[in-house]
Amino acid sequence: MTQRLKDKVAIVTGAGRGIGRGIALRFAREGAKVGVLDLSGAECQRVVDEINAAGGEALALAADVTEETDVNLAVERLRARFGPVTVLVNNAAVMPAGPIHETSPKDFDRCLAVNLRGAYLMSRAVIPDMLKAGTGSIIHMSSVTGLLGLPGLAAYSATKAGLSGLARAMSTDYARHGIRTNAVAPGTIDSPMLHDFLAAQANPEPLRDQFDAMHPIGRVGQIDEVASVFVFLASDESSFVTGATYTVDGGLSVKGEQPQD
Ligand SMILES: NC(=O)c1ccc[n+]([C@@H]2O[C@H](COP(=O)([O-])OP(=O)(O)OC[C@H]3O[C@@H](n4cnc5c(N)ncnc54)[C@H](O)[C@@H]3O)[C@@H](O)[C@H]2O)c1
Repeated sequence: MTQRLKDKVAIVTGAGRGIGRGIALRFAREGAKVGVLDLSGAECQRVVDEINAAGGEALALAADVTEETDVNLAVERLRARFGPVTVLVNNAAVMPAGPIHETSPKDFDRCLAVNLRGAYLMSRAVIPDMLKAGTGSIIHMSSVTGLLGLPGLAAYSATKAGLSGLARAMSTDYARHGIRTNAVAPGTIDSPMLHDFLAAQANPEPLRDQFDAMHPIGRVGQIDEVASVFVFLASDESSFVTGATYTVDGGLSVKGEQPQD
């Protein structure tokens, strides 16, 4: 079977668990050498061990994407191990809940720092490699919350809309240099984030059913269904795709409602 990411060196942030882990595992299976970046070195190492056990190559990078020195060091370590970085996935995020008047300045700032400034710092660190190589793919993890007004997620939604804007703006700066920048906007995904959220509710079962029913396809998405789109955008198969936001949401963002009698 041809490996779609052979010869790529990729860095995935927030890859210690959840969707980021799923993307890192798929990238490695497709032949990429993968930098697994997250806050906890132990979590990164677990994912690296999984990749190695499946015959792939990866490096654990414990780093906080809000810290410029962490970010630069992580990129340097990956470059020293595998060569210039040609794929970046900005997936790390935090999600403070609540309407704006109940969101503390501390939570708001942290949300911006991780979700948006982290993507900026990571992009800034890898773009020189991509300019030198004359090729690169940067993919920002957005969300349908960046396209729709969903209740109780204002700060998070603002950063997700920002990431789509960043992908659009960066595409115009770098298209001529062979660097493509896109965003992916998933609907609700069957992930540890969703499980944690449901576990904290008094009555999780009917809520889980509501999440399923909210998506026109009739269910929430699977991590691998999101990872597939990242493989496409990271690979040369998407060579004419830049500045786009791909929704992976079972139709949620285009759903209309008709009055019922
Ligand atoms: N789960 C969903 O339903 C869903 C839907 C749409 C979009 N998304 C987006 O997908 C991405 C992954 O979501 P998930 O469900 O896997 O979430 P998750 O909370 O399981 O994973 C996020 C990861 O980011 C890491 N992280 C947080 N702050 C960091 C920092 N400062 N530096 C480095 N790493 C940091 C965390 O340690 C964690 O491993 C996020 O960007 C999220 O907004 C998720």
